[in-house]
Amino acid sequence: MDPTIWQTPTAYAELSRALQRRNAQLLATLACQHNPAPMRILDACCGTGSLLATLGDKAPGAHRVGIDVSPHMIAEARNRLYGEDCDLRVGDIMTHDEAASYDLVISNAALHWFSDNVEATVKQLARLLVPGGVLAVATAGLCDDAVAFDHALHEVLTGEAGESPFSRRRVTVIELQRAAGRAGLQPIDLFALTRHEVVDSESFVDWLCASGLDLGLGLSAHPRFVDAAKHRVRTRFGPLLRVGHWSSVGLFRNTAGVN
Ligand SMILES: C[S@@+](CC[C@H](N)C(=O)[O-])C[C@H]1O[C@@H](n2cnc3c(N)ncnc32)[C@H](O)[C@@H]1O
Repeated sequence: MDPTIWQTPTAYAELSRALQRRNAQLLATLACQHNPAPMRILDACCGTGSLLATLGDKAPGAHRVGIDVSPHMIAEARNRLYGEDCDLRVGDIMTHDEAASYDLVISNAALHWFSDNVEATVKQLARLLVPGGVLAVATAGLCDDAVAFDHALHEVLTGEAGESPFSRRRVTVIELQRAAGRAGLQPIDLFALTRHEVVDSESFVDWLCASGLDLGLGLSAHPRFVDAAKHRVRTRFGPLLRVGHWSSVGLFRNTAGVN
């Protein structure tokens, strides 16, 4: 994944506030229920650090580490978490080498960027867990409604009917479970989550650009294209757009080496 996609962390943080933070809150709550006092937490692909901030409240005393490949996102996370017991590093999670170091590895809204090889990604995250540790992930979920939404949006943005490249990144709960099983993890909780939200259609296009979801369209590189896309989205969906968010959520435990 090209790290330069996430070049507008302030816009991302602002626009994802409602869209993604509720998933982050839910994930952090469930993770801490299943692992009540984690000492070391890793947020894989931490972005601007909102999940790490939530974890500061839910797991006080834990040492938190956030890794993200985008220096822009890490800079924003450092601002947000200044003075907290939080180690924020620029790096590729796939080559992160701290095997068996974390009680909790958590990741929100990021695994779909690796879904061309979800098994290798889950295996890498599992490697980082201590025996008994918990992996908690929420990622873009695959279902018929999600694909229909992606395709309708893709058609409006590009002016052409065709398969949305983003749909190919989505994973089902079963795929997540299978990947975790192959990585030696046991399921604790697995579910598909659907949220609907009414958003201003122009802000939605800004969010697409800031979150890398215009992948393959090059929206963010061409401001005039962004304006045209906003016009098309507004014309097709109106000033307020009902946006669906489909997620696959899984919590798993590393039972290897646990008696
Ligand atoms: C949609 S954002 C989600 C950020 C954050 N987890 C949240 O919930 O707001 C996806 C993040 O994944 C990061 N990312 C993508 N590929 C990565 C990689 N190979 N290693 C680490 N971070 C990566 C991006 O830089 C971006 O910040």
